[in-house]
Amino acid sequence: MAKLPNRSPAPTDWCTITVIFLIWQNIVIVRPEDDVTLRPAPLRDGCLRFSGGSKGSSFKVALFADLHFGENAWTDWGPQQDFNSVKVMSTVLDVERPDFVVYLGDVITANNLPIHNASLYWDQAISPTRARNIPWASLFGNHDDAPFEWPVDWFSSSGIPQILCPFANASEGDKCSFKGTTRLELMKNEIRHNVLSYTGFGPRNLWPSVSNYVLTIVSPKSDHNLPVMFMYFLDSGGGSYPEVISTIQSEWFRNKSQEVNPDSSIPEIVFWHIPSKAYKKVAKKVAAGRTKCVGSMFEEPVATQEAEMGIMKLLKERPSVKAIFVGHNHGLDWCCPYEKMWLCFARHTGYGGYGTWGRGARILEITDEPFSLKSWIRMENGTLHSEVVLAT
Ligand SMILES: *[C@@H]1O[C@H](CO)[C@@H](O)[C@H](O)[C@H]1NC(C)=O
Ligand SMILES: *[C@@H]1O[C@H](CO)[C@@H](O)[C@H](O)[C@H]1NC(C)=O
Ligand SMILES: *[C@@H]1O[C@H](CO)[C@@H](O)[C@H](O)[C@H]1NC(C)=O
Ligand SMILES: *[C@@H]1O[C@H](CO)[C@@H](O)[C@H](O)[C@H]1NC(C)=O
Repeated sequence: MAKLPNRSPAPTDWCTITVIFLIWQNIVIVRPEDDVTLRPAPLRDGCLRFSGGSKGSSFKVALFADLHFGENAWTDWGPQQDFNSVKVMSTVLDVERPDFVVYLGDVITANNLPIHNASLYWDQAISPTRARNIPWASLFGNHDDAPFEWPVDWFSSSGIPQILCPFANASEGDKCSFKGTTRLELMKNEIRHNVLSYTGFGPRNLWPSVSNYVLTIVSPKSDHNLPVMFMYFLDSGGGSYPEVISTIQSEWFRNKSQEVNPDSSIPEIVFWHIPSKAYKKVAKKVAAGRTKCVGSMFEEPVATQEAEMGIMKLLKERPSVKAIFVGHNHGLDWCCPYEKMWLCFARHTGYGGYGTWGRGARILEITDEPFSLKSWIRMENGTLHSEVVLAT
């Protein structure tokens, strides 16, 4: 049923408060790092506004999942995949004209990158969105900061690598082993060089888990920028980090949601990369015909995080949480009901990574007064399917 968020009768300007808080944070929390220079980022208030105009009162988000840029750069095949992925994103952006894009992890395949600075490929992946002047946010998947894995065909028949590193000592070893660009370095390069990036480093006490932050979509009509919906971004690990949403991340979510939406009256959605174990439970119900889902691909088993450390319990307890969106499984694109919310996969967008299923992107459309959250999948060839109303 349509239910309007319960708004405060004496509204204060939400975004101004957030700006003041961010300025305070920049002064108090951000200090120079040993390995990474973290000067305050160009100030973003974390608020996104409806575009209004002819499109009326709606806010549209495109999810780009599992792009896997930078594979096999030493063959013709790799660069061709990246070219194809740019085409998919360009088509989706031109057909849907979203207000915002979410890069849902595995933006690059770092374990396939024999270079020191993976931001080169990260930058290629965000370029179609940047070129259209559309703001975006990104989070990490399990491949984004993985160390380079020497391809087996680079070994000669004698089993010795063809490209030999002349010295095995630490400094030369670094140059030969391509350790992967760290999460913090990738984010630093994205945020520092892109005014359209809404990505956050997340609080320092959660590092090395980096992409943990919240963005606010604010009302187009109110003079006071009241929130219409909150979008939480979490780093589900992988690569240099275990594939979990940890206890401290869950605690951060509990604190943050209490702070921004204390009475749980404003709708919330959540993004991360690797499905939680609840997705597997739902998939079992689907297989047994005990739940009705909306989607076109049920092609593989759910590959879940290593452990469940409390985040699902917190999300279940909040009536305002409407849906979770993940990537990771290229052969799944469903949305299934779970408790009072929806568990959704995005749609494999990139030509990198495994699988030959058609490429596309999940789209979200948020309307205000009355609130609604709708979703569908837009394919590379322009077709649309799997429309679903996730919340009203
Ligand atoms: C890595 O690449 C990015 C973008 O391509 C650049 O901005 C950054 O300065 C580079 N970092 C290093 C350490 O070379
Ligand atoms: C490490 O490699 C350098 C060459 O870059 C060499 O000059 C140096 O002696 C090596 N150090 C050790 C401890 O082997
Ligand atoms: C959550 O809030 C409590 C109480 O303010 C604080 O002690 C704790 O450090 C916070 N946890 C995180 C992960 O931010
Ligand atoms: C578009 O792609 C989908 C999925 O790959 C396919 O099922 C459909 O037939 C295609 N439609 C057209 C018009 O090419």
